[in-house]
Amino acid sequence: MHISEIETPAVVVDLDVMERNLCRLADYTRRHNLRLRPHTKTHKIPALAERQLELGAAGLTVAKVGEAEVMLKARPPGILVEYPVIGREKIERLAEVARHTRVTVAVDSVEAAEALSAAGTEFGILAEVDVGAARVGVQPGAPLRDLLRRITRLPNLYFEGLSFFQGHILSAQADGVLALERLSVLIEQILADIKQEGLQAQVVSGGNTPTAFLSHQIRGLNEIRSGTYIFNDRNTVFSGGCAWEDCAASLLVTVVSRAVNGQVIIDGGSKAFSSDAYWGPGGGFGHLLEAPQAVFRKMNEEHGFVDIRETGRSFPVGARLRVIPNHICPAVNLHDRVYTVRQDQVEQVWEVAARGKLQ
Ligand SMILES: Cc1ncc(COP(=O)(O)O)c(C=O)c1O
Repeated sequence: MHISEIETPAVVVDLDVMERNLCRLADYTRRHNLRLRPHTKTHKIPALAERQLELGAAGLTVAKVGEAEVMLKARPPGILVEYPVIGREKIERLAEVARHTRVTVAVDSVEAAEALSAAGTEFGILAEVDVGAARVGVQPGAPLRDLLRRITRLPNLYFEGLSFFQGHILSAQADGVLALERLSVLIEQILADIKQEGLQAQVVSGGNTPTAFLSHQIRGLNEIRSGTYIFNDRNTVFSGGCAWEDCAASLLVTVVSRAVNGQVIIDGGSKAFSSDAYWGPGGGFGHLLEAPQAVFRKMNEEHGFVDIRETGRSFPVGARLRVIPNHICPAVNLHDRVYTVRQDQVEQVWEVAARGKLQ
């Protein structure tokens, strides 16, 4: 099947670019003695998780129990649930997952830890600490020490270390390097907190995609959970974390109307792209590879509004365009399948098996 036969809108993955992205981070982590436990929320496809494991990943990361259930298909040596697991039924399902592989959960509350402990299954736990993203995670210092004191006494839980999310550091440029230095100082303090409680963190888990290749500069860190790096996206390019040629996934769309002067309507709106914002100036919802000057300025559910005045070109109804979305992870989540291509030939069609796993 040729790429021109794919029905649009569709997610298309260039296999050569994806493989290069996978190998690049696998090599980097190996060289710097870092464990890679990739976040599978980006691709949600067990075959790709398997490839990450083949390339040396130490395990997989998920956010949802439903994702953990699906990712068992990749036969990982362990799954990290890097999200608070709250709710009796979810914990029962996670205990079932733990019959097949080692399960570790990041916790930031005594309540979450007690509920896991009560399930009667052994779970690994990471103490989740807030290093500046102000999302989940206890504060370093007394709150962390208090959490550690209380959760490490609980039966069935095995303390593995700590985790954090550096979602406030989204630049691979000078400002990012500076922020990572501040993060290193904070992690050193946190490791001192852990030591003060007589504990040792075997795992210190953090990282993301924008700063992935700077991870070795974060003192104390020994594991990264990058997810987006497999495909990359418009925001990763803006962060300095990759170049356009490293974007493996794009949305293939068709021009369905040119009724308004200076504008085309493409057949992908918020139902195909998600509404995630651009981190850079000017906003917009994606980068058109065939027309970089075009401004993808607005979306309805099924309509993408593209201002083409600056392109100096016209696009007929039926023209097909490739768009790099702002954020690839929620975009993939909106599609049943992903088409993989090599030199414009479709090689495989993958089911996005963990899409929509909200619970
Ligand atoms: C907790 C957590 N860890 C790791 C990641 C991976 O970050 P990235 O997609 O930038 O690689 C995310 C992304 O949202 C996350 O929420």
